[in-house]
Amino acid sequence: MERTLSIIKPDGVEKNVIGEVIKRFETNGIKIAAMKMIHLSKSQAQGFYAVHKERPFFDSLTDFMTSGPIVVMVLEGKDVIAKNRKLMGATNFKEAEEGTIRKDYATDIEKNVVHGSDAPETAAFEIGYFFNDLELHSR
Ligand code: CMP
Repeated sequence: MERTLSIIKPDGVEKNVIGEVIKRFETNGIKIAAMKMIHLSKSQAQGFYAVHKERPFFDSLTDFMTSGPIVVMVLEGKDVIAKNRKLMGATNFKEAEEGTIRKDYATDIEKNVVHGSDAPETAAFEIGYFFNDLELHSR
């Protein structure tokens, strides 16, 4: 069984699609092992996205991620990293497939509604960034 970190970003929370995103996970057989709503500080956002710190969009991205509350979740299931990324669609919503979360709700390459870990190593780091073992519930 695999785990991944999912974030509903400030634009997704603002658009009131928290339930819609969760519904897509649940109807596709993905289980939620942990969940909370938080509002990141700038330094917390910088720590989470540290792999992107040399990228030109880093400052704008970390400003955006602190612009409002986010929903962080741990998803669990077989091949859930790839499955979640398929449900999200491409980072750039213009390249996202029909029926994906980003195709349906994203408006911008940065304001792309959701984040999902891209590999087992990043999933382990990202889950540990937000949750401790007591907050994870395999079902
Ligand atoms: P995410 O999957 O959270 O990973 C990094 C984020 O940086 C990405 O989604 C976008 O929100 C944001 N971003 C902004 N500009 C770019 C870009 N040119 N390429 C990739 N990611 C970008």
